[in-house]
Amino acid sequence: MSDIPPPTDGSTAAADARVRAQYEAMPYPPRDPADEARRLVVGSPSHWLEINHYLFAGRRDFRMPLRALIAGGGTGDACVMLSQQLQDQRCPAEIVYLDISTASRAVCESRLAARGLRNVRCVTGSLMDLPSLGLGQFDYIDCTGVLHHLDDPAAGMKTLANALQPEGGMGVMLYGEYGRAGVYPMQDMLRALVPEESDPAERVAMAKRLIRFLPPTNLFRRNPFLSDHVSGNDGALYDLLLHSRDRAYTVPQIAEMTRHAGLRLVGFAEPLRYEPATYMSDPQISRRFADMPFLERAAFAERLASNLRTHVFYATKAGYDTVARPEDTLAIPVLRELDAAQLAQGLRPGMPLVANLDGFPWRATLPPLANQIVALIDGRRTIAEIYTAMGASGSQPLWDDFRDQFEQLYVVLNGINHILLRFRPGR
Ligand SMILES: C[S@@+](CC[C@H](N)C(=O)[O-])C[C@H]1O[C@@H](n2cnc3c(N)ncnc32)[C@H](O)[C@@H]1O
Repeated sequence: MSDIPPPTDGSTAAADARVRAQYEAMPYPPRDPADEARRLVVGSPSHWLEINHYLFAGRRDFRMPLRALIAGGGTGDACVMLSQQLQDQRCPAEIVYLDISTASRAVCESRLAARGLRNVRCVTGSLMDLPSLGLGQFDYIDCTGVLHHLDDPAAGMKTLANALQPEGGMGVMLYGEYGRAGVYPMQDMLRALVPEESDPAERVAMAKRLIRFLPPTNLFRRNPFLSDHVSGNDGALYDLLLHSRDRAYTVPQIAEMTRHAGLRLVGFAEPLRYEPATYMSDPQISRRFADMPFLERAAFAERLASNLRTHVFYATKAGYDTVARPEDTLAIPVLRELDAAQLAQGLRPGMPLVANLDGFPWRATLPPLANQIVALIDGRRTIAEIYTAMGASGSQPLWDDFRDQFEQLYVVLNGINHILLRFRPGR
């Protein structure tokens, strides 16, 4: 499988070595550095606007130095995205990439080189060894899809939290238990069919065979939202069904793990998916949600929807509110991966916004001014300036009416992670 033979004593060290051997042999996700010439992979967590919105109340001044750690950076998606975005902002940033896999690091380094990015220092090592690596403290840490592969994920999160500055925060992705329904029985069956020490090609072949012959009642077969095994990439199939160590989390478990690490969970990257009201309109039941605290609502929502395969969330060390809020009309709304003019054109008054949230047919009613407001969101105007601009275009609503409608629109677009807030530096 790789040039690092895993110990066979069944110990934690043996399991660690197997995880490392997998990522040496099959860096994840598979990426070709040549593709950097045609696109930047963007995602969550660690988009610069999200970091600012969720961890710095939208008030981070990117002209000031920022130190970020990408812990378990893999082939570099978060590292390359953040490095490029911070360079575009002319931020004097230092990003440290850390991973146990030298093969993954090589891919990440080639991608950075393809873009001419120089604000990243790449280190090979385990995040569990951070206390002895001498890498210093960080304002921000990304840890995406890594902690659930550790022997002790809670200890891993604590180790990362200890490397944060007192006001720093983390963006994390962990697998979601209900959305991965069927994965773990498949992993167990495959372990029973072909020993873990077997040749990876043999294990992949057996996994493909098992998938082909699954009965229609099988839980994995009945979960249509898992796609790594149909992507055509054996590394992705291996990661899903043949991983030597992974586990999945519920919202209460994540809340407990962050608390144990001395952090506060401040938000999930798609807030709407964590609101039970998104999936349920019965008035009697809905009334009960209204009084629940945020994390209880989130736990209820994941049980209700049952389709969250991953949880992307932000957690902070700071003891104050770090999330940007639309009540402050000096906030600048920024659309993410959406063109304002195109979106405004597509929004018809009275027509709902629709999306398929992994099988859930979501519909949101937008306020009547939605298209006029969206047309004026340019990432530079504040909320108050958008109101003024509406007057210039000859259709000024009453201020209170505008504020109400802006907030309704914000809840919907922020809920699906398409609008974030930031402030002009110094505000
Ligand atoms: C599923 S990949 C995710 C890569 C990347 N974060 C992403 O989301 O694209 C998991 C990565 O974690 C790395 N990893 C696993 N255990 C680690 C540890 N103890 N310290 C640092 N990296 C680790 C693996 O080598 C692998 O590159």
